[in-house]
Amino acid sequence: MAVNSYKDDEQSVERSKIQTLLRLFGYLLQYKWQILFVLVIMGYGVAVSLANPLIMESAIDDHIAAGDYAGLYRLLAAALILNLFLVVTVKARMYIMAKVCNEILLTIRQQLYTHIQKLDFKFFDSRPTGKILSRIIGDINSLKDVLSNCVTTLIPDGLTVAAVVVIMIWKNPKLALASLLTVPFMALGMVYIQVKAHPRWQLFRKKSANLNAFIHEDMAGMRIIQSFHAQKETERTFDELVGEHRAAFDDAVRMSDAFGSVIDLSWGVGCILLYYTGIVVLGAEHVSVGTFIAFGSYLSMFWNPIQNISNFYNQLVTNIAGAERIFEILDTPPAITDAAGVAKMPPIAGEVTFEHVSFSYDDKVKVLDDVSFRIKPGETIALVGATGAGKSTIVNLISRFYDVQEGTVRVDGYDVKKVSIESLRRQMGIMTQDNFLFSGTIRDNIRYGKPDASDEEIIAAAKAVNAHDFIMKLEKGYDTELLERGGGLSIGQKQLLAFARTMVSDPKILILDEATSSIDTKTEILVQEGIEHLLAGRTSFVIAHRLSTIQKADRIFVVEDGRIAEEGNAGELMEKKGIYYQLYMAQFKGE
Ligand SMILES: Nc1ncnc2c1ncn2[C@@H]1O[C@H](COP(=O)(O)OP(=O)(O)OP(=O)(O)O)[C@@H](O)[C@H]1O
Ligand SMILES: [Mg+2]
Repeated sequence: MAVNSYKDDEQSVERSKIQTLLRLFGYLLQYKWQILFVLVIMGYGVAVSLANPLIMESAIDDHIAAGDYAGLYRLLAAALILNLFLVVTVKARMYIMAKVCNEILLTIRQQLYTHIQKLDFKFFDSRPTGKILSRIIGDINSLKDVLSNCVTTLIPDGLTVAAVVVIMIWKNPKLALASLLTVPFMALGMVYIQVKAHPRWQLFRKKSANLNAFIHEDMAGMRIIQSFHAQKETERTFDELVGEHRAAFDDAVRMSDAFGSVIDLSWGVGCILLYYTGIVVLGAEHVSVGTFIAFGSYLSMFWNPIQNISNFYNQLVTNIAGAERIFEILDTPPAITDAAGVAKMPPIAGEVTFEHVSFSYDDKVKVLDDVSFRIKPGETIALVGATGAGKSTIVNLISRFYDVQEGTVRVDGYDVKKVSIESLRRQMGIMTQDNFLFSGTIRDNIRYGKPDASDEEIIAAAKAVNAHDFIMKLEKGYDTELLERGGGLSIGQKQLLAFARTMVSDPKILILDEATSSIDTKTEILVQEGIEHLLAGRTSFVIAHRLSTIQKADRIFVVEDGRIAEEGNAGELMEKKGIYYQLYMAQFKGE
């Protein structure tokens, strides 16, 4: 198992954190009335909690000290009502915020999903599916707390801290100064710890994504893993990744937790300074008992929010990476898009032309080098050549899964870059070895190629490719539910269904990329007939290792080193005694 492929291969775009935050909070603005309501409620909450120590001070100094118990009860009753109402408003606030946040997350999820659907092959080539999943699930969930806490922590706690300072100074500037003397030290400690913690949290997120990617691939490749008895090794890789994941977490948490200690220390020292100044320096004649106790309360009301804000900040730096990655995907423009104002391609005859086409996947190595050819409508072309020669690449360019760097690919004379992608791909049928079927009924799967196909059309298509008989033998016929990816069917059956799906969409251009390479001879005959029906009247590109398919082609292209090295029909190429002849002798003689 190549652990290396699960290493951190993502370069996070260094965008301004503030920008990311603002963009995230921009989502909140769509809920201004709810947020405004929450803010009002929270303003009330802050006011009540700030009033509590003052009420206590008044109770002690004005009422208890003076023996005014009637006044005391009135004061306490008022305090009780204020605080009871507070409890109700807190509930309401939590409910509204949770609702708003969930809706925002839903919006982001939808935006991501819609966007990912538009992204091109290149995007998926460069990222394991697991990492994409991890973003959609993990990163978005992690935003929930950030969004909600930014309203319910940042604003009221910020307000509280500011108000506490003002009230303390107003009550007694000397006591205030003494008890807040530790603030600058705390601030320095905070900056230091955050600078250290940020990269650690980023690392942790990356390790999480790596682990997800691995698990995803592991599940998808379970058959292979078991057939190679590779469980031990995958387990080792898993352990290694889990270890890295945990180590990264421990490391980050240890760093961030240090901040709690800094706060505790600042608070403790602040209390000592308060008591020392209050009792020893100023003495009883300057500070009443009530004021003194109120100060103690305010001091704790000062450090608590700071602790909260710091926790929030931690959460923010941890999760901002998630937000950055989400926005990075949202900002990845689909490389293959409709140019502005492109027209739809009208129904085509099926002519395909390559004009001096050169192509590279990575802008470095040329995979195709100055390839030119013209295929007449209805022609069947077989592409042969060594593995890695560029056969799949050629057909991928026809359906514009990638854009060519040089030259032009034309369908019926239209440059494929200059017509709408939908109108192009709708007229093509593409089948690969991985005949991906979706969970759903057989009928739904066949209809996938043409959503408005009638039942008659579906059955006709299935009959044409020899799929009808086996479908009818299933208990529920066309209504049989398929498992995910067509599990429960044989490979040949899946292939026949994929043929039917393509047949029903009635494409003018057909691409079969190794579509028939893995079935037994009996099914093969069925499949072969199916293919012949499928090919009739269409321009077809067949990449196959089977002699029979190849020999029936109108023309054979021998692809070598990104060029068409030889072309002609089977007889001509045999006579030429070139590459095809050698391939034939080496590979097909036995058949
Ligand atoms: N998505 C990709 N990203 C980067 N390089 C790629 C990609 N797909 C193919 N290549 C490279 O392009 C070259 C041509 O690949 P291609 O898939 O066209 O070969 P092929 O002729 O279809 O081979 P095979 O018979 O094995 O299917 C190979 O060297 C391959 O490594
Ligand atoms: Mg290929």
